Amino acid sequence: MTQVEHNGPASQAPVVPGRLPLLGHALQLWREPIAFFESLRNHGDIVRIDIGTWPVHVLTDPEHVHAVLVQAHQFGRGRIFDRLRPVFGNGIVTTDGEFHRKQRRMMQPAFQRNHIADYAQVMCRQAEEMATSWTAGREVSMVTEARRYALSSVAEMIFSGEMSRPAVAEVHRSLPIVLEGMLVRAVMPKFLDGLPIPYNRRFDGAAARLRRIIDEVIARYGDEPGDREDLLSLLLSSVDTETGEGMSAEQVRDEVIAIMFAGTETSATTLSWIFHELGRHPEVEKRLHAEVDAVVGNRPVRPEDLPRLTYTHSVFQETLRLHSPLLFTRRALVPLTLGGVAIPEGAELAYSPHALHRDPALFRDAARFDPDRWHEDTDERPRAHRYLPFGAGQHKCIGDSFAVAEILTAVASVASRWRLVPAPGVTVREVPAGIPQPSELPMIPAARR
Ligand code: HEM
Repeated sequence: MTQVEHNGPASQAPVVPGRLPLLGHALQLWREPIAFFESLRNHGDIVRIDIGTWPVHVLTDPEHVHAVLVQAHQFGRGRIFDRLRPVFGNGIVTTDGEFHRKQRRMMQPAFQRNHIADYAQVMCRQAEEMATSWTAGREVSMVTEARRYALSSVAEMIFSGEMSRPAVAEVHRSLPIVLEGMLVRAVMPKFLDGLPIPYNRRFDGAAARLRRIIDEVIARYGDEPGDREDLLSLLLSSVDTETGEGMSAEQVRDEVIAIMFAGTETSATTLSWIFHELGRHPEVEKRLHAEVDAVVGNRPVRPEDLPRLTYTHSVFQETLRLHSPLLFTRRALVPLTLGGVAIPEGAELAYSPHALHRDPALFRDAARFDPDRWHEDTDERPRAHRYLPFGAGQHKCIGDSFAVAEILTAVASVASRWRLVPAPGVTVREVPAGIPQPSELPMIPAARR
């Protein structure tokens, strides 16, 4: 495994060709971010790019990435997260160090297996609602459907019961605006945040509405305590095992926002891509349908079906390999050496799961969609840590089991009723985003029974 060292002979990271004065590599990044990140592996395991005048060391080798992720005490969250903190607050997504560790300890129980089983009941109901709302032959936008389903799953995991209906409605209204704008906010210079331009007003307005409605629900939960089993109740009653302290109402609100921010677009986009890949690969779709027929049959999906959907799970893994998050950052808190390259204190590091997962040195026939590569007996390249869709180390996705349950439930509920046929004449493109998204995804449901 790669070691992060504090001394020893070290060289400088090579600068990627094409750097311009003042702009650095910003034009390449702006024009074709996905292709640009993929091209970086041709220049070395650790390479330097400049976004404007902001230097970033990009790690293109999975072992360097893993070494940085698991040695979290030497790294802070980095610029992308710093820029989002004023909007999203101090939840576990944007913080680091001792504060993050304490918060993570208090949040972890809400994501344990027994609670995921409760959330899965809600997911099954919602997936059934989605699948029964369509009409054979009438086109649906799978981007919209997947987003609505993911928003509902997360919103109902957080707030349950009638009292929270206005909050769920506000999440559906405002969260998409915040999620769409956050990539721009993360990379745009800070001094532009305060300008009274329509983009800032829309983004800041939506973020403020979300904060307000969550504060209102928290206040009502305090006024009318009941035996709710939702995540908000779990967070409000959680106590740190080491210090005996609970969380303030404000901190609970920030954590709720963190989960909404990290847990909706990611799942929605993955789900959209699964339907896209199934539509393009009829032989994979056929096998998936056969599995769903054998496990689920004609009835609605139940939580206990999910562990038996093994081929469906491989389809999920393979989709996530090809359609992973584009970029994460970290910041070196001390001067160090990584893979023989000197990383100064304060340097920004970045890695792209999306680019790693498409590296032909790491995956046989990397561009091909092949769920069978996840079966043990296939001839895959055994490189450690090459598959990191949920990250690793202390910031590893806390919602990975939630995401698996949510996505398998939706895919099986749809597949037990429908074959989704891609609308003719549409070319689906990858649009840059947290996880690059399908430009559009119109599909036509054809009844299977
Ligand atoms: C397919 C869906 C998902 C993908 C690909 C994904 C991916 C990731 C990745 C890569 C990280 C680590 C980021 C880093 O290292 O800086 C992360 C963190 C996180 N994810 Fe997910 N995620 C997904 C779904 C979810 C869901 C459904 C939830 C919640 C319901 C969630 C909540 C979080 C939170 C709170 C963090 C921050 C953890 C921390 O910093 O301690 N994610 N996710």
